Amino acid sequence: MIHIESTESLKTVRSNLRGSIGFVPTMGALHDGHLSLIQTSLSMCDTTWVSIFVNPTQFSPNEDFDNYPRHIDEDLELCKAAGVDAVFCPTEGDIYPNGDTTPRYTPPTWISQSLCGKTRPHFFNGVCNVVERLFSLVHPTHAFFGNKDLQQRVIIEQMVASLNLEIDIVGCPIIRDKEGLALSSRNLYLDGEGLKKAGHISKALNDASIHVKQQGWSTHQVRQFIAAALEGRGLKGDYVEVFRPRTGEVVIGDIAPGDHCCLAFICDEVRLIDNIALK
Ligand code: PAF
Repeated sequence: MIHIESTESLKTVRSNLRGSIGFVPTMGALHDGHLSLIQTSLSMCDTTWVSIFVNPTQFSPNEDFDNYPRHIDEDLELCKAAGVDAVFCPTEGDIYPNGDTTPRYTPPTWISQSLCGKTRPHFFNGVCNVVERLFSLVHPTHAFFGNKDLQQRVIIEQMVASLNLEIDIVGCPIIRDKEGLALSSRNLYLDGEGLKKAGHISKALNDASIHVKQQGWSTHQVRQFIAAALEGRGLKGDYVEVFRPRTGEVVIGDIAPGDHCCLAFICDEVRLIDNIALK
Protein backbone atom coordinates (compact mmCIF):
# COMPACT_ATOMS: atom_id res chain seq x y z
CA MET A 1 0.00 0.00 0.00
CA ILE A 2 1.25 3.47 -0.86
CA HIS A 3 0.86 6.22 1.74
CA ILE A 4 0.63 9.54 -0.11
CA GLU A 5 1.25 12.63 1.99
CA SER A 6 1.33 15.46 -0.56
CA THR A 7 -0.44 16.53 -3.72
CA GLU A 8 2.91 16.42 -5.58
CA SER A 9 3.43 12.71 -4.90
CA LEU A 10 -0.28 12.07 -5.55
CA LYS A 11 0.05 13.53 -9.05
CA THR A 12 3.06 11.33 -9.81
CA VAL A 13 1.39 8.13 -8.57
CA ARG A 14 -1.89 8.98 -10.29
CA SER A 15 -0.33 9.76 -13.68
CA ASN A 16 1.10 6.22 -13.87
CA LEU A 17 -2.25 4.52 -13.20
CA ARG A 18 -4.59 3.03 -15.78
CA GLY A 19 -7.94 1.25 -15.43
CA SER A 20 -10.78 1.97 -13.02
CA ILE A 21 -10.01 3.80 -9.80
CA GLY A 22 -12.37 3.42 -6.86
CA PHE A 23 -12.19 6.22 -4.31
CA VAL A 24 -13.41 6.20 -0.71
CA PRO A 25 -13.14 9.69 0.83
CA THR A 26 -13.18 9.60 4.65
CA MET A 27 -12.42 11.70 7.69
CA GLY A 28 -10.67 8.71 9.32
CA ALA A 29 -11.50 6.91 12.58
CA LEU A 30 -12.35 4.06 10.25
CA HIS A 31 -14.97 1.49 11.23
CA ASP A 32 -16.77 -1.40 9.56
CA GLY A 33 -18.96 1.05 7.61
CA HIS A 34 -15.85 2.47 5.89
CA LEU A 35 -14.45 -1.03 5.43
CA SER A 36 -17.60 -2.10 3.60
CA LEU A 37 -17.16 0.86 1.19
CA ILE A 38 -13.56 -0.24 0.68
CA GLN A 39 -14.64 -3.86 0.05
CA THR A 40 -17.19 -2.73 -2.52
CA SER A 41 -14.58 -0.63 -4.29
CA LEU A 42 -12.08 -3.51 -4.25
CA SER A 43 -14.70 -5.77 -5.82
CA MET A 44 -15.62 -3.26 -8.57
CA CYS A 45 -12.42 -1.41 -9.45
CA ASP A 46 -8.84 -2.15 -10.55
CA THR A 47 -7.36 0.12 -7.88
CA THR A 48 -8.80 1.41 -4.61
CA TRP A 49 -7.81 4.71 -3.01
CA VAL A 50 -8.85 6.06 0.38
CA SER A 51 -8.40 9.63 1.58
CA ILE A 52 -8.21 10.59 5.24
CA PHE A 53 -8.78 14.28 5.87
CA VAL A 54 -10.78 15.95 8.64
CA ASN A 55 -12.20 18.76 6.57
CA PRO A 56 -12.42 22.05 8.49
CA THR A 57 -14.88 23.69 6.08
CA GLN A 58 -17.70 21.30 6.96
CA PHE A 59 -17.57 22.18 10.68
CA SER A 60 -18.95 25.38 12.18
CA PRO A 61 -16.88 27.08 14.90
CA ASN A 62 -19.03 25.56 17.69
CA GLU A 63 -18.75 21.99 16.37
CA ASP A 64 -16.34 19.15 17.14
CA PHE A 65 -13.53 19.77 14.60
CA ASP A 66 -10.80 19.88 17.30
CA ASN A 67 -12.11 16.81 19.13
CA TYR A 68 -13.03 14.78 16.05
CA PRO A 69 -11.38 11.34 16.53
CA ARG A 70 -8.03 11.07 14.73
CA HIS A 71 -6.55 7.54 14.62
CA ILE A 72 -4.17 7.76 11.70
CA ASP A 73 -1.88 4.82 12.60
CA GLU A 74 -4.81 2.41 13.18
CA ASP A 75 -6.51 3.71 10.02
CA LEU A 76 -3.42 3.02 7.91
CA GLU A 77 -3.17 -0.50 9.37
CA LEU A 78 -6.85 -1.17 8.60
CA CYS A 79 -6.46 0.06 5.02
CA LYS A 80 -3.37 -2.07 4.48
CA ALA A 81 -5.05 -5.19 5.90
CA ALA A 82 -8.12 -4.55 3.72
CA GLY A 83 -6.00 -4.45 0.54
CA VAL A 84 -6.28 -0.72 -0.26
CA ASP A 85 -3.77 0.37 -2.93
CA ALA A 86 -3.18 3.95 -1.84
CA VAL A 87 -4.12 6.18 1.10
CA PHE A 88 -3.98 9.93 0.58
CA CYS A 89 -3.55 11.95 3.77
CA PRO A 90 -3.39 15.57 2.63
CA THR A 91 -2.64 18.58 4.79
CA GLU A 92 -5.00 21.56 4.92
CA GLY A 93 -2.55 23.37 2.61
CA ASP A 94 -2.80 20.57 0.03
CA ILE A 95 -6.58 20.87 -0.14
CA TYR A 96 -6.89 24.62 0.39
CA PRO A 97 -3.66 26.12 -1.04
CA ASN A 98 -2.79 29.49 0.56
CA GLY A 99 -5.78 29.04 2.85
CA ASP A 100 -8.15 29.74 -0.05
CA THR A 101 -11.36 27.86 0.74
CA THR A 102 -13.44 29.51 -2.01
CA PRO A 103 -15.78 26.75 -3.21
CA ARG A 104 -15.77 25.78 -6.87
CA TYR A 105 -19.27 24.31 -6.52
CA THR A 106 -22.01 25.34 -4.13
CA PRO A 107 -25.06 23.10 -3.81
CA PRO A 108 -28.44 24.79 -4.32
CA THR A 109 -29.90 26.05 -1.06
CA TRP A 110 -33.23 24.23 -1.55
CA ILE A 111 -31.36 21.00 -0.80
CA SER A 112 -28.31 22.15 1.19
CA GLN A 113 -30.47 23.96 3.76
CA SER A 114 -33.02 21.17 4.29
CA LEU A 115 -32.83 18.18 6.70
CA CYS A 116 -29.25 18.23 8.09
CA GLY A 117 -28.70 21.66 6.50
CA LYS A 118 -31.35 23.29 8.72
CA THR A 119 -29.22 23.13 11.85
CA ARG A 120 -25.89 22.76 9.99
CA PRO A 121 -26.26 25.36 7.17
CA HIS A 122 -22.50 25.32 6.42
CA PHE A 123 -22.23 21.53 6.22
CA PHE A 124 -23.02 20.56 2.62
CA ASN A 125 -21.14 23.57 1.22
CA GLY A 126 -18.07 22.30 3.07
CA VAL A 127 -18.63 18.70 1.97
CA CYS A 128 -18.97 19.68 -1.72
CA ASN A 129 -15.98 21.98 -1.41
CA VAL A 130 -13.68 19.20 -0.18
CA VAL A 131 -15.14 16.36 -2.27
CA GLU A 132 -14.85 18.36 -5.51
CA ARG A 133 -11.21 19.19 -4.64
CA LEU A 134 -10.46 15.55 -3.79
CA PHE A 135 -12.11 14.39 -7.03
CA SER A 136 -10.02 16.88 -9.04
CA LEU A 137 -6.82 15.52 -7.45
CA VAL A 138 -7.58 11.78 -7.45
CA HIS A 139 -9.57 11.63 -10.73
CA PRO A 140 -11.48 8.50 -9.69
CA THR A 141 -13.75 6.60 -12.05
CA HIS A 142 -15.97 5.51 -9.11
CA ALA A 143 -16.54 6.99 -5.65
CA PHE A 144 -18.18 5.20 -2.74
CA PHE A 145 -20.44 6.80 -0.14
CA GLY A 146 -22.43 5.25 2.70
CA ASN A 147 -26.20 5.52 2.56
CA LYS A 148 -26.29 6.54 6.22
CA ASP A 149 -25.42 10.00 4.88
CA LEU A 150 -28.15 9.77 2.27
CA GLN A 151 -28.61 13.52 1.76
CA GLN A 152 -24.84 13.88 1.35
CA ARG A 153 -24.82 11.13 -1.30
CA VAL A 154 -27.67 12.78 -3.23
CA ILE A 155 -26.00 16.23 -3.08
CA ILE A 156 -22.73 14.73 -4.36
CA GLU A 157 -24.60 12.96 -7.19
CA GLN A 158 -26.14 16.32 -8.12
CA MET A 159 -22.71 18.00 -7.98
CA VAL A 160 -21.19 15.34 -10.26
CA ALA A 161 -24.07 15.77 -12.74
CA SER A 162 -23.90 19.54 -12.60
CA LEU A 163 -20.10 19.64 -13.19
CA ASN A 164 -20.28 16.89 -15.85
CA LEU A 165 -17.74 14.79 -13.95
CA GLU A 166 -17.31 11.27 -15.27
CA ILE A 167 -17.48 9.59 -11.89
CA ASP A 168 -19.93 6.86 -10.87
CA ILE A 169 -21.23 7.57 -7.39
CA VAL A 170 -21.92 4.26 -5.68
CA GLY A 171 -24.19 4.32 -2.62
CA CYS A 172 -23.47 1.48 -0.17
CA PRO A 173 -25.74 -0.04 2.50
CA ILE A 174 -25.75 1.22 6.08
CA ILE A 175 -23.71 -1.00 8.41
CA ARG A 176 -25.18 -1.38 11.92
CA ASP A 177 -23.97 -2.64 15.30
CA LYS A 178 -25.78 -5.44 17.13
CA GLU A 179 -28.26 -2.95 18.66
CA GLY A 180 -29.07 -1.72 15.16
CA LEU A 181 -27.22 1.58 15.57
CA ALA A 182 -25.82 2.84 12.26
CA LEU A 183 -22.00 2.88 12.48
CA SER A 184 -20.46 6.34 12.66
CA SER A 185 -17.12 7.67 13.90
CA ARG A 186 -19.12 9.87 16.29
CA ASN A 187 -20.50 6.76 18.06
CA LEU A 188 -17.09 6.79 19.80
CA TYR A 189 -18.39 9.73 21.87
CA LEU A 190 -21.11 7.50 23.44
CA ASP A 191 -20.71 5.26 26.50
CA GLY A 192 -22.45 1.88 26.93
CA GLU A 193 -25.74 3.43 28.13
CA GLY A 194 -25.68 6.00 25.33
CA LEU A 195 -25.10 3.31 22.72
CA LYS A 196 -28.08 1.34 24.05
CA LYS A 197 -30.30 4.43 24.01
CA ALA A 198 -29.13 5.26 20.48
CA GLY A 199 -30.17 1.75 19.39
CA HIS A 200 -33.81 2.92 19.67
CA ILE A 201 -33.32 5.11 16.60
CA SER A 202 -33.21 2.18 14.18
CA LYS A 203 -36.02 0.39 16.04
CA ALA A 204 -38.29 3.43 15.62
CA LEU A 205 -37.36 3.70 11.93
CA ASN A 206 -38.06 0.00 11.38
CA ASP A 207 -41.43 0.19 13.13
CA ALA A 208 -42.42 3.26 11.11
CA SER A 209 -41.54 1.57 7.82
CA ILE A 210 -43.63 -1.49 8.77
CA HIS A 211 -46.60 0.79 9.54
CA VAL A 212 -46.20 2.54 6.18
CA LYS A 213 -46.09 -0.76 4.33
CA GLN A 214 -48.88 -2.47 6.26
CA GLN A 215 -51.20 0.38 7.24
CA GLY A 216 -50.41 3.04 4.67
CA TRP A 217 -49.21 5.57 7.27
CA SER A 218 -48.82 9.15 6.05
CA THR A 219 -45.77 11.40 6.28
CA HIS A 220 -47.38 13.15 9.25
CA GLN A 221 -47.98 9.85 11.09
CA VAL A 222 -44.39 8.71 10.48
CA ARG A 223 -42.96 11.97 11.81
CA GLN A 224 -45.22 12.05 14.85
CA PHE A 225 -44.58 8.41 15.73
CA ILE A 226 -40.79 8.68 15.53
CA ALA A 227 -40.62 11.94 17.45
CA ALA A 228 -42.79 10.49 20.25
CA ALA A 229 -40.92 7.14 20.33
CA LEU A 230 -37.46 8.72 20.58
CA GLU A 231 -38.29 11.70 22.76
CA GLY A 232 -39.94 9.20 25.14
CA ARG A 233 -36.54 7.45 25.37
CA GLY A 234 -34.69 10.65 26.24
CA LEU A 235 -33.38 11.56 22.78
CA LYS A 236 -33.78 15.11 21.51
CA GLY A 237 -35.16 15.63 18.01
CA ASP A 238 -33.31 17.70 15.43
CA TYR A 239 -35.51 16.64 12.47
CA VAL A 240 -37.57 13.76 11.09
CA GLU A 241 -38.55 14.08 7.44
CA VAL A 242 -39.57 11.96 4.49
CA PHE A 243 -36.97 12.40 1.74
CA ARG A 244 -37.03 11.46 -1.94
CA PRO A 245 -33.46 10.46 -2.94
CA ARG A 246 -34.31 10.47 -6.65
CA THR A 247 -34.91 14.23 -6.59
CA GLY A 248 -33.53 15.37 -3.23
CA GLU A 249 -36.92 16.78 -2.20
CA VAL A 250 -38.56 16.70 1.21
CA VAL A 251 -41.88 14.87 0.80
CA ILE A 252 -44.94 16.57 2.24
CA GLY A 253 -47.68 14.58 0.47
CA ASP A 254 -48.00 10.88 -0.32
CA ILE A 255 -45.14 8.52 0.35
CA ALA A 256 -43.92 6.92 -2.91
CA PRO A 257 -41.73 3.87 -3.55
CA GLY A 258 -38.08 4.75 -2.90
CA ASP A 259 -38.89 7.45 -0.32
CA HIS A 260 -36.88 7.32 2.90
CA CYS A 261 -37.52 8.54 6.41
CA CYS A 262 -34.40 10.53 7.39
CA LEU A 263 -33.72 11.84 10.87
CA ALA A 264 -31.20 13.42 13.21
CA PHE A 265 -31.53 13.01 16.97
CA ILE A 266 -29.29 14.08 19.82
CA CYS A 267 -28.34 11.30 22.21
CA ASP A 268 -26.26 12.38 25.23
CA GLU A 269 -25.10 15.50 23.37
CA VAL A 270 -24.10 13.45 20.30
CA ARG A 271 -25.94 14.19 17.07
CA LEU A 272 -26.77 10.97 15.22
CA ILE A 273 -28.34 10.53 11.80
CA ASP A 274 -30.04 7.53 10.23
CA ASN A 275 -32.65 6.66 7.60
CA ILE A 276 -34.73 3.83 6.23
CA ALA A 277 -36.64 3.09 3.01
CA LEU A 278 -40.36 3.38 3.75
CA LYS A 279 -41.75 1.64 0.66
O1 PAF B 1 -18.86 11.45 5.02
C1 PAF B 1 -17.75 11.90 5.36
O2 PAF B 1 -16.97 11.27 6.08
C2 PAF B 1 -17.33 13.30 4.91
O3 PAF B 1 -18.42 14.16 4.85
C3 PAF B 1 -16.57 13.28 3.58
C4 PAF B 1 -17.43 12.80 2.44
C5 PAF B 1 -15.32 12.41 3.69
C6 PAF B 1 -16.10 14.71 3.22
O4 PAF B 1 -15.24 15.22 4.20
